[in-house]
Amino acid sequence: MTEQQCSEADQALIDALRDAVGRQAVLTSADELQPHLEEWRRIERGYCVCAVRPGSTQEVAAVMRICHERQVPVTTQGGNTGMVAGALPQGGVVLLTNRLATIRAIDRDNATMTVEAGCILATAQAAAREQGLLFPVSLASEGSCHVGGAVATNAGGNNTVRFGNTRENVLGLEVVLADGRTWDGLRGLRKNNTGYDLKHLFIGSEGTLGVITAVVFRLVPEPAARETVMAACPTVASVTTLYQRLQKAVGDQILAYEMLPDAAIAVAEHHVDSVRSPFDQRHPWYVLLELSHPEGLGDLRQGLEGILASAMEDGLVTDAVVAESDSQAAALWHIRETVPEAQSMGGAVIKHDVSVPISAIPEFLERGTELLLEHIPEGTVVPFGHVGDGNIHFNVLQPDDMERAAFLELAPAVHLAMHELTVSLNGSFSAEHGIGLEKTADMSRFRPAVELDMMRAVKEALDPRNIMNPGKLLP
Ligand code: FAD
Ligand code: MLT
Ligand code: ZN
Repeated sequence: MTEQQCSEADQALIDALRDAVGRQAVLTSADELQPHLEEWRRIERGYCVCAVRPGSTQEVAAVMRICHERQVPVTTQGGNTGMVAGALPQGGVVLLTNRLATIRAIDRDNATMTVEAGCILATAQAAAREQGLLFPVSLASEGSCHVGGAVATNAGGNNTVRFGNTRENVLGLEVVLADGRTWDGLRGLRKNNTGYDLKHLFIGSEGTLGVITAVVFRLVPEPAARETVMAACPTVASVTTLYQRLQKAVGDQILAYEMLPDAAIAVAEHHVDSVRSPFDQRHPWYVLLELSHPEGLGDLRQGLEGILASAMEDGLVTDAVVAESDSQAAALWHIRETVPEAQSMGGAVIKHDVSVPISAIPEFLERGTELLLEHIPEGTVVPFGHVGDGNIHFNVLQPDDMERAAFLELAPAVHLAMHELTVSLNGSFSAEHGIGLEKTADMSRFRPAVELDMMRAVKEALDPRNIMNPGKLLP
C-alpha cells in the first residue's frame, strides 16, 4: 500500500509504529509486503496496512500496545510455511518474527534450550546438535519455519511417533499478550504443578491468543546409533502390521515411521532431478523408518535385520534398503522431504491433513481413495506421511486435462467428504497443521458446541478486543 493511498488513521498507525520500532522496521510498500500476503500453497491471499519487524520482546510489547489501543488486528507471521493460511493477514498489521532469532541459552546439564520465536527450526536443531543434544521437533519445512510457528501450530512432523508433537517438547514460554503485557513463563522445570498450565493455552493457538516471543524446549541425548531403512511393502495392511511388529520388538526406539505410495516417489522423481528411487523395481508402498537408541543398548542393526528378515519371510516386506552411511540415510530422507514440494510443481493440490487410529488405516486408505476418485476421476491420489501417528496427508493432484480454477472449485466438497469419512472412523480433520482460515467451518461441523464455547471463553479472556489473528481457528 503506498503512503498516499492509506487513510489518515492508517498513516497515524504507521507513524506510531515507526516511532516504536524505527522506520526501517515498518514495511509499507507493495513490494516489501507481497511475500507476506501470499501463502506456501498459493491458494489464499492476504492484505494489510503494513508489516512490522520488532527486534526485541520489548518492541513486540510496544507494537501490541499501539494496536490494542487502536483496536487494530495483528497477524503474527513466522516462516509463513503454514498449510491452512493461518499467517495470512485479513487487514491490520502483520507482525514478523524474523528479527527475534537469538538462541538465548542452551543448558546442557538440564538439557534445555531457550530460543526466540523467530529462530529457524533447523538453526535451533543445529545449535542443540553442537552441544551433543537432539532438539526432537523435525518437519520437512524446518529449513524455513520458525520455532514460534511450530509452537503456535503445535507442529507434528517426522519424530512425533517417538517424541510427541511440539507441545510435548515445550517447557516454558514468553508471550506478549494482546494488551501489550509480557508474560515471562520461561521456566525449564520438568515438574511445576502450580495452577493452570498456562503455556498449553498458547501452544497450538495459532496467533489468536498472544505473540510467542521465546520458548524453553526440552532436549534429549543425541542418539548414539541410528538406523534408517526404506522398505517396500505390497499392501497398506503390511505397512501397519510391520509397524506393530516394530513397536513390539523395539517400540521406544522408533524415531520415525513414514509411508509413501509409489505415486509420491514417481511425482518427486518426475519434478526433482536429485530424487531417485533406491529400488530397481516399482512397489505399491514404501516405508521410511528410522530407529535410534542411546549408547550401549544391544545391537540396533542386528535387531533391525532380524525384524526385516522375518517380515520378508511373512511377505510384509518385498525389498529393503538399509542406509550404510549418514549420506545414504540423508538421500532416503531427501525422497520423503521432496514429496510436498514436488506435488505442487505439477499443478494445484487438494490437501488433507487427517488422522485415524492406526488399526483403521487400511480401511481408511481404501475408502478415502475411492471417495477422492469419485469426485476427481482423473486426479492422482497421493496418500503419504506420518503413518506411525495415524496421520495421512491424503492429497489429490490436479489432472492434466483440468483447469486449476475448476479443480480448486471442487475442494470444499472433497474436503467435506474426506473429513466426514475421517471423523466417522474416529479420526481428526486436522492432525498437525491446525485450523487457520481453512478449517473454521470444520470446527463448527465437527467440534461439539460446548468445546467451542470453552475456546471462545478463553479467547474472550485473553483477547477481548479480538485483535489477535481474527477470523482464524475459531468459527
Ligand atoms: P507461519 O506459517 O508463519 O504461521 C503459522 C501460524 O502460527 C499462524 O496462525 C501464525 O499467526 C502463527 N504464528 C507464527 N508465529 C507465531 C508466534 N511467534 N506467536 C504466535 N503465533 C504465531 N506441519 C507439521 O505439523 N508437520 C509437518 O510435517 C509439516 N511439514 C511441512 C512440509 C512443508 C514442505 C511445508 C511447506 C509445511 C509443512 N508443515 C508441517 C506446515 C508448517 O511448516 C508448520 O505448520 C509450521 O509449524 C509453521 O511454522 P511457520 O513459522 O512457518 O508459521
Ligand atoms: C508433510 O508431512 O510433508 C507436510 O505436512 C506437507 C504436506 O501436507 O504436504
Ligand atoms: Zn506432515
